[in-house]
Amino acid sequence: MILIAQLSDLHVGGARHEPRLLELALGEIAALRPDLVVIAGDLTDEGYPDQYELVRTALGRLDGLEVVAVPGNHDARHVGYLHWERLLGPREVTKRLELDGEQVTVVGVDSSKPDVDEGEIGREHYAPLAAALDEAADLRVFVCHHHLLPIPGTGRERNQVADAGDVLALLSAHGVDLVLGGHRHVPYAWRLGEMLVVHSGTAASLRTRAFPHPAYNLIKVEPDNVQVELRVPGAESQALGSFPRRHAAPVAADLPLGAPREGFEWLLPGTAEDQERILG
Ligand SMILES: [Fe+2]
Ligand SMILES: [Fe+2]
Repeated sequence: MILIAQLSDLHVGGARHEPRLLELALGEIAALRPDLVVIAGDLTDEGYPDQYELVRTALGRLDGLEVVAVPGNHDARHVGYLHWERLLGPREVTKRLELDGEQVTVVGVDSSKPDVDEGEIGREHYAPLAAALDEAADLRVFVCHHHLLPIPGTGRERNQVADAGDVLALLSAHGVDLVLGGHRHVPYAWRLGEMLVVHSGTAASLRTRAFPHPAYNLIKVEPDNVQVELRVPGAESQALGSFPRRHAAPVAADLPLGAPREGFEWLLPGTAEDQERILG
């Protein structure tokens, strides 16, 4: 089993950032010793150097672990993309790892643009992305901050990856198993074709939406399925869903939807009947 911890939207330095939550989340993750930690953007609130310094210090908790981090729109503010490179390292990464006997390709791309909230992968990325994904691998993971698919319970749809259609087609055609993102501050999982698209909530801030709790994800990749678990730092956890792995035999039609439900308040507009209809 390959264990991946996925967190995002720390918003360090922001008004609703909670250092206590970051401490809890990183402490819990460090204790679990996952095979891979993915940090899917918005590590800082405004991209300032002092905020990056705080992030760098906090991430010291993960020393010795395999960490892949990409910037979010907040990190790209105020030339934050330059501070990222200076204080955290490259904004984009391709890694080939052997995890639990499986060859794993992880590609992290910077979907942010300076001083705007909109996301884009950009055509200049397509050829290198395809080449990286075409290398032989048992598991292919793509990471970017912005969402390629809309996320329920996040209000008006905006800031989606501008070239989402082309990127989804490329990722699907080149065998991506897992797409990991953040940005909308609502944990959610979509299965699209044979890809599983998983978003983490905000791990260390109170900038929540439909799911009104800070959260991060634990992803367990088994030979035939992928289990996604939602964790509230210092508190409860629950299954977000269990999904068949690419090329695994189809399983029961009553798969969980991929939204947090049990034991948690879930705020969607409309009546209780509407929510029941939407969430099943
Ligand atoms: Fe965010
Ligand atoms: Fe964001």
